[in-house]
Amino acid sequence: MPALVINAGAPLEVAAGASILEACSAHGILLPSACGGRGFCGRCAVQITSGDLTPPTEAEGNKILGSDRAKGLRLACQARLCGDVAIAIPPEILAVRRHTGTLVDKILVTPDVAHLRIAVDAKPPFSFRAGQYVQFEAAVAPPPAKPVLRAYSMATEPSDSGHIEFMVRHVPNGLASTWIHRNLEPGQAIAFRGPFGNFHLSETATPLIAIAGSSGMAPLRAIFHDMLKKNIRRPAKFFFGARTRQDLFLLDEWADFERQAPWFRFIPVLSHEPADSPWPGERGMVTDAVARHLPDLTGQEAYLCGSPGMIDAAMAVLFARGMTPDRIFYDKFSV
Ligand SMILES: Cc1cc2nc3c(=O)[nH]c(=O)nc-3n(C[C@H](O)[C@H](O)[C@H](O)COP(=O)(O)OP(=O)(O)OC[C@H]3O[C@@H](n4cnc5c(N)ncnc54)[C@H](O)[C@@H]3O)c2cc1C
Ligand code: FES
Repeated sequence: MPALVINAGAPLEVAAGASILEACSAHGILLPSACGGRGFCGRCAVQITSGDLTPPTEAEGNKILGSDRAKGLRLACQARLCGDVAIAIPPEILAVRRHTGTLVDKILVTPDVAHLRIAVDAKPPFSFRAGQYVQFEAAVAPPPAKPVLRAYSMATEPSDSGHIEFMVRHVPNGLASTWIHRNLEPGQAIAFRGPFGNFHLSETATPLIAIAGSSGMAPLRAIFHDMLKKNIRRPAKFFFGARTRQDLFLLDEWADFERQAPWFRFIPVLSHEPADSPWPGERGMVTDAVARHLPDLTGQEAYLCGSPGMIDAAMAVLFARGMTPDRIFYDKFSV
């Protein structure tokens, strides 16, 4: 049996032909994986220190580019052991655990976004940083089928880790999001792994803007509520893009938040609201509203969350207004 050595620790026996992701999981080490091991998300990349692995797959070629490949990075879900292998992973990954809880509430806040509240079981204790995500185990098929793993970001700040909330958009024909919308009901048990991710507030004091659409609100809600809780008063504008009035949610909560946090403004922007509707707020693409409100972003920071298309469009606007790439933090909600 080949051996896997992690961070120069004791050799772990693993099944020949197992992927590094499977080998780690068999020993209780849960690597990040937003796409459930399909080679799409790139989040399972690990540093290979030495060893004998299968050649890079086509999926790896798309995710691990030249210089990273030269440094020995491989996708853990694609690289399979042919012999003994040694890898290096960040120490915080060793603290990631599988957790369980019970869905206590599920509310459809727009035609396609469900707001979930989960009571987390006390053991093992669950703690996280605002902005991070977990991987749900979606039981889309009866056991012994393996659960489908998908990433969902915590929508609550971490001080009450006994209860966590999520916002899940229904992707038509999507395995996990359809299961969450159609099959997961209050009272039902749920399992998840985490926390994962590096999307979090920086430790600077600069003004910031946030841009999100749909369920991309989730990690930003966690970050802003965490700021309020910790009395971090950085001037902040949150631009939230939606198609029409019916795609907006938590408006009362954000209005209340603005009253408690004078340093914060929530700016909803509608791209497809009928011209004759009484909507008094911003119209057009969310990126156009950012451009209108903020002609100069030099020295500010941006936090972006949502579809890859929205994030790429937002970045172009931010660069044109003087923001540098090192000040832009984002989580793309895609596989
Ligand atoms: C770090 C991270 C955090 C995330 N947090 C959230 C969150 O808080 N809330 C949330 O709703 N989602 C979130 N996502 C997206 C989520 O993980 C799933 O990708 C999404 O729910 C679709 O999964 P599925 O199993 O339903 O669809 P799948 O069965 O994976 O896909 C079905 C089809 O839809 C396409 N597809 C997959 N994802 C999307 C998408 N997002 N938009 C459009 N088409 C898609 C696929 O290419 C495929 O053709 C996050 C993703 C990442 C990477
Ligand atoms: S889990 Fe390996 S690429 Fe997503």
